[in-house]
Amino acid sequence: METKTFYITTPIYYVNANPHLGHAYSTVVCDALARFHKLRGEDVRFLTGTDEHGDKIAKSAAKQGRSPQEFVDEISSHFRNLWPKLDIQNDYFMRTTNPEHVRLVQKFLQKVYDNGDIYFGEFGGHYCTGCERFYTEKELVNGLCPQHLTKPEYIKEKNYFFRMSRYMPWLRQYVLDHPDFVRPDRYRSELLGLIDSGGLEDLCISRPKSRLSWGIELPFDRDYVTYVWFDALLNYITALGWPDGPDYKKYWPGEHLVAKDILKPHGVFWPCMLHSAGLPVYQHLNVHGYWLMRDTKMSKSLGNVVHPERMIELFGSDAFRYFMLAEMHFGSDANFNYDALITRINSDLANDLGNLFSRVLTMTAKYEDSVVPQPRDKTEEDRAITDLCSTALRNFSDLFGNVHFARAIDALWELVRALNKYVDTQAPWALAKEGKTERLKTVLYVLLASMRKVALALWPVMPHAATLMLQQLGEEIKEGEKPNLTIDDEIACFGGLYPGTKVAPSSNIFPRIDTKAMLELLEKESKAEMEKAAAAKKVAEGAADAKKDEAVLPNVTFDQFKACDLRVGTVKVCEKLPKSDRILRLMIDFAEGQPRQILSGLAEFYKPEELVGRQVIAVLNLEPRKIRGAMSNGMVLTAEKDGKLTLIAPSVPMPDGSRIG
Ligand code: MSP
Repeated sequence: METKTFYITTPIYYVNANPHLGHAYSTVVCDALARFHKLRGEDVRFLTGTDEHGDKIAKSAAKQGRSPQEFVDEISSHFRNLWPKLDIQNDYFMRTTNPEHVRLVQKFLQKVYDNGDIYFGEFGGHYCTGCERFYTEKELVNGLCPQHLTKPEYIKEKNYFFRMSRYMPWLRQYVLDHPDFVRPDRYRSELLGLIDSGGLEDLCISRPKSRLSWGIELPFDRDYVTYVWFDALLNYITALGWPDGPDYKKYWPGEHLVAKDILKPHGVFWPCMLHSAGLPVYQHLNVHGYWLMRDTKMSKSLGNVVHPERMIELFGSDAFRYFMLAEMHFGSDANFNYDALITRINSDLANDLGNLFSRVLTMTAKYEDSVVPQPRDKTEEDRAITDLCSTALRNFSDLFGNVHFARAIDALWELVRALNKYVDTQAPWALAKEGKTERLKTVLYVLLASMRKVALALWPVMPHAATLMLQQLGEEIKEGEKPNLTIDDEIACFGGLYPGTKVAPSSNIFPRIDTKAMLELLEKESKAEMEKAAAAKKVAEGAADAKKDEAVLPNVTFDQFKACDLRVGTVKVCEKLPKSDRILRLMIDFAEGQPRQILSGLAEFYKPEELVGRQVIAVLNLEPRKIRGAMSNGMVLTAEKDGKLTLIAPSVPMPDGSRIG
């Protein structure tokens, strides 16, 4: 029988900020799913990476005075270096600046262009730099971007468009025909709502290079680049070497995991792109909610970000992974709080699981010299526990495979708690004391064999701890390697642990945390961080205020500057432009034989008679413009302060026509 394949991807993360809890969660979930499918004996591939093009990143780099490439190299490495510390076993790490990715994105674009699904057109829209996308009037909330609550910029320009609207009827039918295409169900309903709202127009996929060059050049127009979605989404197949790579042929279509913020690009844009290019669409889109801090989304500027590295230092990767998977109900938002984290570690891990391992292994050392005993006849209690063992394992497996991680863990913990109770009721120490050795052997065997199954099921959740637990139970498994067992075999029969196997004499995998001391430390750290963020915000606001008046403009060359014809002239005639409160009509002598007419918005600041006889400086070779029916053949120079204009003049009288330079 051919081995089933499983291909899972995380979103590729923007490199404009360092990884935080949200990124860690998505990546841990994918890793846990990848490991779970390995335990099912499947052939698994797992992709993560970084999204490195676009306005936002170019701007973040410029802010630090660095080149975009230098900037993205550094932040991308922060993501790449974090993952091994969280025991993430990804097979690929895709960066959108990877030349092979760039080449394949161009190939894909050309294919869709040749199919007639990309066209050139003009478009005006409300552009949010934070989201790197245009919003329609309807999508804005009180004129603001619904995600960032900032005012988007209205931009009108010529661009390339993907004919997405053409695929809406197809997409709608596809979602209806495939009930688990998007899960959990609430996001499937949200997607159908989006499609039915009729607001899904064609997708703008380009930017003129003059405005943004940090993207991938369009193969059919070198003056434009593509960026963000038509670039990033494709990483899911370029990593597999689409179209001819063996991995593409073997692993596509796979499944994706994202948070609800990017449901639309994944649920709408991506299937349409794939369908347009004649590729099969992915199998599932798994969508989760947000991690919140005291009901607010985490943000660097509030200083309420949870740093995965610090969590690993304080609690270890296993406990941190366990907490994230057990605490968040996949699909819903969850609040992160340190109290809950420590409680879970102390009660679920130290008390329930750790204690079970510690007491049973200590007793096996004491009564059986750390050798797995041969079980004898089973009692009703034994059968109840072995039945629960297979039910719990089956429930765990069904729930985990369907992305109900928290419920899957609950199902397993029902067994862990029942095993602790079984220890209490069967009281091996009493059996030993009473000399009931046969019964003692059976009880210890039931416990050890069940613990082995618990440890195996936990390998996707806590790979390091599960490996240790399996080793303690005599399994030959190396750190970082997959257990040579499948979960389905383990569900199918009780046992699997051979009598005579040598086990560890003791176990202390999950030490208790001193709650009070730890909470004090964390409190102190978050306070310091919030203060730091508030101070940084103040500095940034000050800098922004100082900058408001001096917009940062690109450099011009000396030749470009020299090309401006700036001259001194004397105002001969000045009057208000008819039907205008703002504009003055000036006739200025630049020693050109006859005075030149220039219009200027000076009426609020000068009376016409004040200006006659005054010298001014003007640009003469500016393209003439018609203003309210009159021609303006140049522009007089003014300085602005708080909206008030002041004319610029030479400091001493100069002959008319004198050149400025
Ligand atoms: N680059 C795009 C994705 C392109 S995928 C082809 C992007 N990047 S991102 O850095 O903003 O990452 C968004 C993803 O990070 C979310 O979809 C989610 O997986 C994760 N999270 C970021 N913050 C989060 C929370 N506060 N809570 C949970 N996960 C969130 O969008």
